[in-house]
Formats: sequence, structure tokens, C-alpha cells
Amino acid sequence: MGIKAYRVAVVGATGAVGNLMIQVLEERAFPVGDIKLLASARSVGKFLTFRGESIPVQELKEDSFDGVQLALFSAGGSVSRTFAPIAAKKGCIVIDNSSAFRMDPKVPLIVPEVNPGAVTVEPGIIANPNCSTIQMVVALKPIYDAAGIRRIVVTTFQAVSGTGKRAIEELRHQVQSVINATEIKREIYPYQIAFNCFPHIGAFLENGFTEEEMKMDNETRKIFGDPDIAVCATTVRVPVYFGHSESVNIETRKPITVEAVRKLLVAAPGVRLIDDPAGARYPVPIEAAGTDDTHVGRIRRDPSVENGLAMWVVADNIRKGAATNAVQIAELLLERGLV
Ligand SMILES: NC(=O)c1ccc[n+]([C@@H]2O[C@H](COP(=O)([O-])OP(=O)(O)OC[C@H]3O[C@@H](n4cnc5c(N)ncnc54)[C@H](OP(=O)(O)O)[C@@H]3O)[C@@H](O)[C@H]2O)c1
Repeated sequence: MGIKAYRVAVVGATGAVGNLMIQVLEERAFPVGDIKLLASARSVGKFLTFRGESIPVQELKEDSFDGVQLALFSAGGSVSRTFAPIAAKKGCIVIDNSSAFRMDPKVPLIVPEVNPGAVTVEPGIIANPNCSTIQMVVALKPIYDAAGIRRIVVTTFQAVSGTGKRAIEELRHQVQSVINATEIKREIYPYQIAFNCFPHIGAFLENGFTEEEMKMDNETRKIFGDPDIAVCATTVRVPVYFGHSESVNIETRKPITVEAVRKLLVAAPGVRLIDDPAGARYPVPIEAAGTDDTHVGRIRRDPSVENGLAMWVVADNIRKGAATNAVQIAELLLERGLV
């Protein structure tokens, strides 16, 4: 019997994440029999390439999911809120990149290296976590299993690609404007992003945190299935195109040495340990970009607290932080015979 091939739809196919989803499906040889590329009416007439074949982009409509078995959504929360339940009702399994369903208790929130056991197709929708959360939990999972984690303090340095294709263009244009000493135009961000940074990702909430910071807080507890982990996040946008960096301080429940952590991380799935301070080797976004691994380095004891550890974690935010994780979830469904 030949391998089953699936009818797959990519919603938001013309976007930064959606485009990469198409590429990652091809790279990882996911058994796609037929692919449907969906976006807004604005993109009708455009063509995208899958396995060397030029495929027309179609407008997303209610009947787009007829006969589709698997849909990867990456077109923002409001599109997901409207169309993911429509697709699921038609028997299509949705893997959703937006934040629309992540904290819904019925919807699994999955990072395949961390909580594959939580995957279920019962509600028809599986949520892909926030990019900053994914790379942090991949790095922390082996430590959590060995020593438990009581508290996490994290500061992120997030690339503009996390805001989509228009933000990538905004940085590009602003860099040109600074170099040419012409007027700096700003549409996406609250401040100039070229040669600047700001601690403002998502809207500010009443508690003083931003939406992005609270995503890291809530999603981490849900993925670990541990309501007792305390998280304090500060999320910062920086003028980097691809690759989020994170300074992570943790307090483990049991003592664990830096050497033991290094050994665990060398063996951990999806992790690349780059930790040679003497040779000036540590993770940087320019090297993490284009890879699917979570790069970890600068592991050291945090002397400010008992059982404290500090580290630096970098990953390609639109690969492991979005497209690759979504395709890995689809692979997990296949492995488990759930689709
Ligand atoms: N999980 C993660 O870590 C992660 C990381 C990055 C982004 N995301 C999420 O992924 C989503 C897309 O992000 P992105 O960075 O790829 O954004 P983007 O580059 O701006 O692309 C947005 C995509 O959505 C489509 N779209 C917008 N409105 C639509 C509508 N009404 N109907 C159908 N399609 C519509 C766009 O189509 P047109 O080209 O036709 O406008 C485009 O394909 C967002 O929800 C974002 O929060 C998640």
C-alpha cells in the first residue's frame, strides 16, 4: 500500500509565515497530495510555487475547506476566529498560528518536543504557541524534567518578521532613509525601528504588561501543564529581520549544575548547544535564521537566587517559532494515526 497523501490548505499563504509553511511542507516532504493556497481577495491573480509547480492563490471563503483534511492557518486572529470553526465543522483539522484559540481549555497548545502527549484532534483545532514561547519551552523542557522550574524571568529581543511582511519592509525602508538622510516613514510600529528598540509588543494591558508578555506567561504554564510556574516577561522589538533572542533566568525546584544542564541540552531534541565563551561562540540570530533548531548558550549560574540559572536562547521566529512547529504538529498527527 502506498503512503497516504493529504489534501492540505494553507490560509494566509502570501504572508511571511504562510509562505514559509509552503516551503517547510516541501522541505520536510510532508505527504501532500494536493495543496490549496488561500489568502484575501487582494491576492487573487498571484501564483506561489510548491514543488516546482506554480499554484494560483484563491480567496478564502466558507467553501474553501470542502474535501480538505488539514489546514494550516496563518492569517491573523480574526480570520482564524471566523474560518477555523467552519473548517473544523467540515472535518478538516486546523493547526492555527494565531492567538485566537491558544488559551481555550478544549484546544491543545502543542510544541512537539515538549508536550506531544497533549495532542488531540477532538475539537478539530490545534493551536501553535507564540513564537517567543516556543523557543523558550524547547530550551527549558529538559531542565524542567530533571529539576522542575519554579520561576522564569525572561527578556526578549524580537525580530521584525514576527510582525509580518509589512514590518520587514518598514525596517528595510527606514534603514535606507537613515543612510540617505531622508524622511523616516512609520506605519506599523509606534516608534522608528531602524537603529532603535522598544519594550512594546502587542497592546498594553491593565496590569502593565503587554499582550505578548502575557502570552509567554500563560502559554508556558499551559504547555508544561504546570499552573505553579511563575513567569515575568519583558518583550522588546529590535531591528533584526529574522531570529528572536531571549535572556532567560530560571529558578529550578531542585539543584542542578551548569554541567548537567549542558549535557541535557546536547541530547535534547530540537536544541543546538553553542556555549564556548572562551571562543566567543554563543547563539546569534544571524546564525539561527534559516535553521529549525533552538540555539542555547551562555549557560551560567544565576547567583542572585538559590537554584538560579541564566542562559541565552535564539531561534528563527518564523521557522521554529511558527511554520516549522506547525508542520511538526502535522507530522505528529500522522505518527499518531490521528489524521
Ligand atoms: N506562532 C507564531 O509564533 C507566529 C509567528 C509569527 C506570526 N504568527 C501569526 O501568524 C499570522 C500571520 O502572520 P504573518 O507574519 O505571516 O503576517 P503577514 O505577513 O502580514 O501575512 C498575513 C497573511 O494573512 C492573509 N490575510 C489577511 N487578511 C485576510 C483575510 N481577511 N482573509 C484571508 N487572508 C487574509 C494575508 O493575505 P493577503 O496577502 O491577501 O493580504 C497574508 O497571506 C498572525 O496571526 C500572526 O500573529 C504567529
